[in-house]
Amino acid sequence: MKDLSYCRHEFPSLARLGPDGSPLVYLDGPGGSQVPASVITAIADYYTRRNSNTHGQFITSRESDAMIWSARAHMASLLGASDPSTISFGQNMTTLNFLLSQAIGRTLSPGDEIIVTDLDHDSNVAPWLALEDRGLVVRHAPVLPTAELDMEAFHNLISTKTRVIAVGWASNAVGTVNPLPTIRQWAAEAGALMVVDAVHWAPHGLIDVEQLKPDFLLCSTYKFFGPHVGVLYAKPGLLESLPTLRVRPQSESAPERMETGTLNHAALAGVIAAVEFIASLGDEPASDLRSQIRQALTHIYHYEHELASKLYRGLLAMPGVKLYGPPVGAQDRAPTISFTIAGQSSEAVAQALGEQGILAWDGDFYAMTLVDRLGIRNQGGLLRLGLAPYNTSGEIERTLAAVEVIAHGI
Ligand SMILES: Cc1ncc(COP(=O)(O)O)c(C=O)c1O
Repeated sequence: MKDLSYCRHEFPSLARLGPDGSPLVYLDGPGGSQVPASVITAIADYYTRRNSNTHGQFITSRESDAMIWSARAHMASLLGASDPSTISFGQNMTTLNFLLSQAIGRTLSPGDEIIVTDLDHDSNVAPWLALEDRGLVVRHAPVLPTAELDMEAFHNLISTKTRVIAVGWASNAVGTVNPLPTIRQWAAEAGALMVVDAVHWAPHGLIDVEQLKPDFLLCSTYKFFGPHVGVLYAKPGLLESLPTLRVRPQSESAPERMETGTLNHAALAGVIAAVEFIASLGDEPASDLRSQIRQALTHIYHYEHELASKLYRGLLAMPGVKLYGPPVGAQDRAPTISFTIAGQSSEAVAQALGEQGILAWDGDFYAMTLVDRLGIRNQGGLLRLGLAPYNTSGEIERTLAAVEVIAHGI
């Protein structure tokens, strides 16, 4: 296992001290990771030297055009796509998914069916529910008390009417990783489109779209060291078949076909730097960017899981602390550890941690149905600790000690 904590010095925000004078512990990554200096510099550099709109006959505009394609190429490398024109950008994942669902919806007929899951973030549910007013039927794959999808019930929902299966790669609330190859096969057998929300998985593990073969896959670069930019991968040829919302002069080809209005160019400069930051955590020298990304994400996966395992074991040993989601180590999962403390609201726990400079989210994180199914709505949902390569073993010890005091007052 490669200790990645050396990368901490690259994140200016990690130098910030908390209320008690000790460094803040950032366990809020699932809500948005911290940003390395290289990303901040790239964004500032764009405004300082290259700020321009696209398709002009002058230097800054040409540089902006090239930079946007470089951002597509970098994201293609991150997702394992060989063609940069499979990558469209947008304001965030949610906006892109609404645009996608509306475009797909215009190709469907009343009575056609879409399957969403009770495990997912609402950004891969609500865009599909919005099609119900066109007469489309949305079916909900249930979640088990273990916070895993009920695969048998899921399979039973698929029929000759199924047109779209919308599913998450990993749960942003409890870290569950879904069995996507199986769902991919079901979608193929049904002739349905597969739309994957990879927002929570992208920071933690390797994505290979040419291996998984989703029709569409979405992620968000602010979850992996970048700025607020949404990313849509579309299988080659698919975007052109969709009646996307466009202004008339807009290109009818992928990837621009899905991009409404002017993109956030400076942020795209930051996307390039974010992907290069991830790659920098790989081993030198690598023959190409994708190989370096593959190495880096292997290191990230193992490093984060070492920390997650320590955190999970520590919490498991505390009476009154209830953990949710698959056990760490027993199976594939994201390093996102969620729990409740008996008799305490998760908001109160988050507040107590926050007062000690430990930044953790509480609530349902828009995975609303999951929190309802887990029966913890009245307790204020979950307390979520999310790990990133800049977290350390010492931070886990500090967090465990703080939770122990909150849970037992010792
Ligand atoms: C799993 C998951 N999907 C979708 C989203 C929405 O992403 P965005 O904020 O880019 O719209 C989030 C954000 O937290 C998420 O965690």
